[in-house]
Amino acid sequence: MAKGQLEFQEEVDAARIENAMWRSWKADGSGDHSGDHSAKTEKLERVRGSIGDSIDFSQIRYPQETRRCRYDDLPTFPVRPNFAGFENALQPASQCVVFDGCPEDPYHPSNTPIYQTSTFVQPSSSEFGPYDYTRSGNPTRTALEKHVAMLEHAAAAFAFSSGMAALHTVTRLLKQGDEILVNEDIYGGMHRLLTQDCAHNGVQVTFVDTTNLTAVAKAITPKTKIIHTESPSNPRMKISDLRKLATLAHQHKVLLSVDSTMMPPVICQPLLLGVDLVVHSATKFFSGHADCTGGLVCVRDPELAHRVAFLQNAEGTALAPFECFLFLRGIKTMWLRVNRAQENTVQIAKALAKHPRIKEVFYPGPGGCSSEALRIHNSQSSGCGCIISFTTGSVSFSRRFLDASRLFKTTVSFGSVNSLGEMPCTMSHASIPAEERTLPADLVRLSVGIEDVRDLLQDLQRPCPCCWESS
Ligand SMILES: Cc1ncc(COP(=O)(O)O)c(C=O)c1O
Repeated sequence: MAKGQLEFQEEVDAARIENAMWRSWKADGSGDHSGDHSAKTEKLERVRGSIGDSIDFSQIRYPQETRRCRYDDLPTFPVRPNFAGFENALQPASQCVVFDGCPEDPYHPSNTPIYQTSTFVQPSSSEFGPYDYTRSGNPTRTALEKHVAMLEHAAAAFAFSSGMAALHTVTRLLKQGDEILVNEDIYGGMHRLLTQDCAHNGVQVTFVDTTNLTAVAKAITPKTKIIHTESPSNPRMKISDLRKLATLAHQHKVLLSVDSTMMPPVICQPLLLGVDLVVHSATKFFSGHADCTGGLVCVRDPELAHRVAFLQNAEGTALAPFECFLFLRGIKTMWLRVNRAQENTVQIAKALAKHPRIKEVFYPGPGGCSSEALRIHNSQSSGCGCIISFTTGSVSFSRRFLDASRLFKTTVSFGSVNSLGEMPCTMSHASIPAEERTLPADLVRLSVGIEDVRDLLQDLQRPCPCCWESS
């Protein structure tokens, strides 16, 4: 085994043992986080003694009842590595494909199987095996969640039935009377969830411009528990300084949650910037093929991960095994897809900026935002992403521009291998009531795919003659 691999394996084994220890502490009710070295060593020895250096999952038994531990206090996810401090020598492209999705499968298949089962037979009526019921845990889902946790450097990641289910789970960390501060430019579905669901359940929702740290600092109150943002924001592509927001949030004991759907982990890892919760609509870049819906929540702190795991099980929002399989497959090409689409995006943005009928182009690249916003974006990610928004000054021109395009298919969503276009006001953000919507009505949002960029550039020229004359 090469040195890099060996270190990686040691890292994973160490993280597994750490997780198992954590579980064992919970189970014996001591919850010792005192930092007492000899107590920790003793526990480590105990865990090593029971599970060995390399965990054999088939041998794991969890007591169904212990004297001091309630069923719901046990983590609902199986023992898995904590990737919060994870580092290895592999580049992001390699990390997308170098991953053993099923080390515990007795046949060791080279690809993660779909464990299409709702239940798992238990060792006895008084013991649990590693899995009992697919809502609570399923090996295909664990594989996806582990791979995502590794890519995002999370203590744990959780897969949900949609991006909205993932976002909903973040809001469920709040209780009546708590406040959430939310970026004023945000995905329409999240706006609807916050204003028409959370607010009705007694959570105070306050919108603030998270690109303006002074405004955020002023908006924080003793009730504030979460700051939630997107960077770039959907659809106006505004950039927030995630490092500074995290510092500010933590000064006030507030969690920072980031919907990083536009910035998949191959180009941005917000947990490394101090963010506490990263959410993805996996429907976009994790799938990459517009063939399944899913959501992800990635968590930095193991205690918080425990709560998210509890909610995923209690509310029954987890992703089904077949979809997990599709996302595992999508991840393998994520780096390639995103990088190719980003190259195209830069070309498309340049062409749009020169287009006589286009007023303003918004994207985190040259000419798409202020130099300060670009500096911040480049300091927290390694690419511009694949989304561009622009205005034309005329709603009807924007419509005809989109309708005339053959390659940019008119559809909501983004992050697919093929290029897409939409008008946020009437499509992705239509759920925001018109009187609350601050988006320009002529705004067009493009999702750039992996086609040959020459075809895309030609396609964008297509609408010009007809639209130009009749507008
Ligand atoms: C930024 C962002 N977050 C979350 C979602 C919701 O994801 P889903 O459609 O998978 O529920 C979307 C959907 O378009 C989105 O654009």
